[in-house]
Amino acid sequence: MGAKTVLVTGGGGYVGSHACKALAETGHVPVVYDHLRTGHRWAVKWGPFEQGDILDGARLDEILRRHRPAGVMHFAALACVAESFADPAAYFQTNVTGTLILLEAMRRHGIANLVFSSTCAVYGLPGAGAITEDAARRPLNPYGSSKLVVELMLEHYRRAHGLRYVSLRYFNAAGADPGGAIGEHHDPETHLIPLVLDVALGKRAHVEIFGEDYETTDGTCIRDYIHVCDIAEAHVLALRHLDRNEAAVFNLGNSRGTSVREIIALAARMTGKDIAVRSAARRPGDAPALIADASKLRRELGWSAALSKPETILETAWNWHRRHHGVG
Ligand SMILES: NC(=O)c1ccc[n+]([C@@H]2O[C@H](COP(=O)([O-])OP(=O)(O)OC[C@H]3O[C@@H](n4cnc5c(N)ncnc54)[C@H](O)[C@@H]3O)[C@@H](O)[C@H]2O)c1
Repeated sequence: MGAKTVLVTGGGGYVGSHACKALAETGHVPVVYDHLRTGHRWAVKWGPFEQGDILDGARLDEILRRHRPAGVMHFAALACVAESFADPAAYFQTNVTGTLILLEAMRRHGIANLVFSSTCAVYGLPGAGAITEDAARRPLNPYGSSKLVVELMLEHYRRAHGLRYVSLRYFNAAGADPGGAIGEHHDPETHLIPLVLDVALGKRAHVEIFGEDYETTDGTCIRDYIHVCDIAEAHVLALRHLDRNEAAVFNLGNSRGTSVREIIALAARMTGKDIAVRSAARRPGDAPALIADASKLRRELGWSAALSKPETILETAWNWHRRHHGVG
């Protein structure tokens, strides 16, 4: 696909807004489709905004007819593991039924190209070492299950209707636009880095560490933090990939693990503030360590994790966080 209009569902959210910026920078027109329940109008800056729900097929018809996008980037979803245990129906409704309604709308309008936001949560409890794309998919929570169902659905749509898709299984998105234009703001916030930075700003008393008795280097969970701009870049490359290929699945991570304790220590150094912590019980559905093998993405799409050093992630997140909360 050359430089063309792209429908971005969930483009008012954290990852989707950074993808819109990357699309605009490569000459595309990102049309954001979002109901803004967890996203923000201020994050839509690089193209038209259309308010709507992916569960509303008639509204999608209207928008696809009006903008005639050449492809779709599909970020819109519910994405909180704890909430998915409490309300699985909402997760299957938005993530599975919503995607089904979107796919049918795309079919009605002859749109075959899709980049889908999948997640490392589809893997569940992987064995030791970095995870490759062919690892078993056994999600530990309803959120991961809902994303796995979508992955299966996409493959059936490819076979039956010629859908061309790239599914990107991201690990932990983190960091913010280095220019400070946009960044992470979830409400309620569940992600470690913004929570830690809230403590540094004095907006929270402490950060909770869920489990310190895992079999990891320091007992806390290890995650693979990938800069949100590196994720955005992978989406643009994935769109290009669809010109030549029908379907592909890629891990999207930094191939490097950082523990909860290491993130907290790094944030304390970077911000010059004490970060108070409180020990809490392990949470259900948390794997001890999740680290991507992202060599397929590097090899086949020419992608690199240019901004994903933990120091760069924290620095860009801190710059954004301070400015967003009107401090410094
Ligand atoms: N943030 C991460 O670390 C991470 C990791 C792996 C996968 N993902 C996936 O990436 C995508 C984006 O995540 P995020 O962190 O940017 O979340 P986010 O909540 O910031 O963004 C999601 C956006 O989708 C919109 N949305 C939700 N349901 C909708 C609906 N029914 N109709 C229209 N819009 C709707 C929300 O308003 C929001 O703007 C999600 O699909 C998520 O599962 C995120």
